[in-house]
Amino acid sequence: MRIGKARAHTNIALIKYWGKANNQLKLPQNSSLSMTLDAFYTDTNFQLLEQSTTTESSFSLNNVVQEPASSRRVFDYIETLQDRYRLPHDKFKIQTTNHVPTSAGLASSSSAFAALAQAFVAAYQLDVDKQELSRLARLGSGSATRSIYGGFVEWQKGTDDQDSIAMPIDEQPTIDLCLLAVEINFASKGISSTAGMQQVVNTSPYYGVWRTEAERGVIQMKQAIKANDFTAIGTLAERSALAMHALNFTANPPFTYLEPETIHAIKLVEQLRIQGIECYFTIDAGPNVKILCQLRNVKEITERFKEELGNVNIIKASFGPGVINLD
Ligand code: ADP
Ligand code: DP6
Ligand code: CO
Repeated sequence: MRIGKARAHTNIALIKYWGKANNQLKLPQNSSLSMTLDAFYTDTNFQLLEQSTTTESSFSLNNVVQEPASSRRVFDYIETLQDRYRLPHDKFKIQTTNHVPTSAGLASSSSAFAALAQAFVAAYQLDVDKQELSRLARLGSGSATRSIYGGFVEWQKGTDDQDSIAMPIDEQPTIDLCLLAVEINFASKGISSTAGMQQVVNTSPYYGVWRTEAERGVIQMKQAIKANDFTAIGTLAERSALAMHALNFTANPPFTYLEPETIHAIKLVEQLRIQGIECYFTIDAGPNVKILCQLRNVKEITERFKEELGNVNIIKASFGPGVINLD
């Protein structure tokens, strides 16, 4: 019985990826930069079934066997990987658990496809290095490219399958930086990341500006990280998130992931800053807000958010590790 088991942590982009240049290879329009988180992760078992079996391939998520429609993306992905290594289309059983809300803008696809890529290569005993693993993860979900590494990670957009890969910037950062995930709504979003970014690339007249600014953002963010400059990191991250959400309003038809409580949270971050409690926000493709802050302010920020937003659930995260083989 060949089985691979892996754990991967989610990562939150500080400079966002928002648009593909190639849908099949998931090559991005711009480079991006993230922090891998310790609090959110996916555990995945990938088991190859015996050739003689009459059992069909299956995909179960959080102990629930998924219907064909919800399994399509994962099944297609496994076939893509099998074709890449000229393997037969063996049947398989995937069992995966998300220790992160699924499809809620907390980057479940980043940990999901990084874990699945690692479990796949382990089951087939393929000898791949981290760079190849980050290519494989990218073929599942763009953001998963970066979850191969821990700490601060850059995804260099590259030009083709070979060079569009993640590069670790600092796998064990010592900077005083943590993230508070504020639960606005952990339900599945209406528009997947894949669909949202596609709509923007196809229709926003501002897309060219986004690309240039994102590339500049990555360069500036790397400088900020090198200088251990929390203020610059937070400011740049906030700018990237705002630009991404502004871009969504400029698509045709326009759309947004923001909810009234999201704006409330943004305002509160601004207010706290004016009051001398330094913090910044970032928001992915969902309504939930992630606050970047320093350890000494966690308690006060948490209290203020609970006061103002009606005892919301807040989860604290720090830097997490890269993908882990579980056997
Ligand atoms: P998120 O904000 O959570 O990353 P996305 O829209 O990017 O949302 O991706 C959600 C999709 O990722 C799901 O519809 C599913 O196809 C896939 N996914 C999430 N978790 C898993 C998992 N553990 N294993 C395989 N695929 C997963
Ligand atoms: C806003 O990686 O989820 O989180 O490549 O289509 O699977 P696909 O999209 P995904 O998009 C992530 C978008 C983002 C920003 C980021 O993680 O860089
Ligand atoms: Co995603």
